Amino acid sequence: MSHGDLLVHIVGNKAAAIRKAVERIRNTDSAHWTIRWHIEGSRPDNRVEDGRSLARNPFHFTEGFGNPDTERESLDRALIPSDQNEPQWAVGGSYQVVRIIRFATDLWDKDSVGEQERIVGRKRDGRWLDGTPVDEQPNFATDPTGRLTPLDSHVRLAAPDRRNPPPIVRRSYSYDKGNDDKGIIFSCFQRDLAQGFEAVQKRLEGESMAKYLLTTGGGYFFVPPHGDGWLDALSYSG
Ligand code: HEM
Repeated sequence: MSHGDLLVHIVGNKAAAIRKAVERIRNTDSAHWTIRWHIEGSRPDNRVEDGRSLARNPFHFTEGFGNPDTERESLDRALIPSDQNEPQWAVGGSYQVVRIIRFATDLWDKDSVGEQERIVGRKRDGRWLDGTPVDEQPNFATDPTGRLTPLDSHVRLAAPDRRNPPPIVRRSYSYDKGNDDKGIIFSCFQRDLAQGFEAVQKRLEGESMAKYLLTTGGGYFFVPPHGDGWLDALSYSG
């Protein structure tokens, strides 16, 4: 389940309509192409709160709090600007990273909620472990040894400098293929892969969550510019 020449990402809020669209693609003349892989996902409790698009993941945590809370900032992080030395046709497009990440739910569910929260570095509902409200920034400098928020927790490694958040916009989906094969279709958009996904992924190498994760697929894709359509893709329009 990796790479391929073209990623077709079909999104909607009615499963039947999506299945129909998938069928139409399957039934079109495929003399020149074959479907290399496909996966279905969903976003339980999908909603926009305080400008952020949130969903619950299969491990009982809400995701999306670390995303920007304005359309402007999201577009700034996601879209290729004109001064980045890219060809003219790429300006206003984006790099999308997709990762199919299987999660060891059995192992995870044996841990207490408190242990899980120390692995993520936030409470299940998004509040910070040092008591900082969900929409404010914690001061990690006052917790240098990681007593409150462990140094190897997911959020502390993903975004250590609260004034300079990683330039990515995440928009992931949950998948459940049965037979305990559950996880996340991680997806994020960025204007630059090295500063975006790759910088975060390198920092996450030593995270305490790593023992629950197995990345089984995904790829890098270029998304051509599509004007206002971006606000739909990043889900500001509901
Ligand atoms: C199965 C795998 C993963 C799970 C369960 C997971 C879960 C979470 C959760 C619960 C949060 C806190 C809420 C939020 O801000 O959204 C979070 C934050 C974040 N995650 Fe992940 N994540 C996973 C994989 C990844 C990957 C592969 C990356 C990028 C390489 C990533 C990057 C981030 C970033 C940048 C944040 C925001 C940190 C902040 O600003 O505080 N995550 N993740």
